[in-house]
Amino acid sequence: EKGGYDHFMLKEIYEQPNVIKDTYRGRLHANEGIIQMAGVEDNLEKFLNADRILIVACGTSWHAGLVAEYIFEEFTRIPVEVEYASEFRYRNPIINKGDVLIAISQSGETADTLAAIKLAKEKGAFVFGVCNVVGSSISRETHAGAYTHAGPEIGVASTKAFTTQITVLTMIALRLAKAKGTLSNSDFHRYLQELEVIPEKVTEALATNDVSKTIAEKFKDAPNCLYLGRGYNFPVALEGALKLKEISYIHAEGYPAAEMKHGPIALIDELMPVVVIAPKQGHYDKVVSNIQEIKSRSGKIIAVVTKGDVQVRELADYVIEVPDTSDALSPLLTTIPLQLLSYHIAVMRGCNVDQPRNLAKSVTVE
Ligand code: M6R
Repeated sequence: EKGGYDHFMLKEIYEQPNVIKDTYRGRLHANEGIIQMAGVEDNLEKFLNADRILIVACGTSWHAGLVAEYIFEEFTRIPVEVEYASEFRYRNPIINKGDVLIAISQSGETADTLAAIKLAKEKGAFVFGVCNVVGSSISRETHAGAYTHAGPEIGVASTKAFTTQITVLTMIALRLAKAKGTLSNSDFHRYLQELEVIPEKVTEALATNDVSKTIAEKFKDAPNCLYLGRGYNFPVALEGALKLKEISYIHAEGYPAAEMKHGPIALIDELMPVVVIAPKQGHYDKVVSNIQEIKSRSGKIIAVVTKGDVQVRELADYVIEVPDTSDALSPLLTTIPLQLLSYHIAVMRGCNVDQPRNLAKSVTVE
């Protein structure tokens, strides 16, 4: 049932090109310039009239929410707030009738996310679910929604759920942008075309597996690891760190690269591996100077870069190349080597990759 792979996690990492396609199939029509999702179409006015969008989720799904915040605000100009469901539900949050709440959950059973939904419904918000498990509690409790079609995710560490959540949320943002006219026609069409070819690019990103393995060999005994990214790739840094800590039990932290000098830089010495996400699009020059700061303090730099990169390659100890795409879609590619890196480190440390200690696949207690 692991399809020839040693672990479900690895199988699920490799399924990503196919499941991303499954997720956009019948919804994304790049040549026609159409995005069609029943749950969005039926409630278009609610989205368009929203004063703001609240996103609630936990763990990796919360990271997908953070990526969506950047995408929604950029594409649709609707203000977005992303909250941990557990914090949101217990702080008497301000929820108004005109608010749209998007709940993201792979399992659809996360107790805190479910409770946040119930609260938002009581206060009159329109609640939209992005779930993977069909018929799950959250998919039933929400007013409408869109499934991710990632298929069963068995590994406790979420992988394909994350990239398919981002795919669904990107499509929603594009649909709203089209209706609102907040993206130029040419940008809208370009994003559709780029999203359509993402699966092939994910396949290319997966081909870096051997590089990740070599890097894993070098850093498997590190006690700590720092992950840095900016903009769309700041949430990817958080996700990379979460993947490493949950399956390898190495302490890892994700940070916005610019925040480094406000504290974490004190941790950097020759023993500290720093994973920097530095694709060409985005705040490249800024990230390059962050890399220089790490290098001058003798930190070990592992960089995720765009294919053909020269500048970072000169500075970094190791580079992993992913194909070029626009800034907004880059998390779908930069995430892949980070999944592989944590997988290999965990395997080399003899950890139970699919069922890490103390963790459950779905957290149905608060
Ligand atoms: O099923 P959900 O998406 O609601 O689960 C949320 C988190 O429990 C989940 O993402 C968790 O953080 C994973 N172990 C991360 O890999």
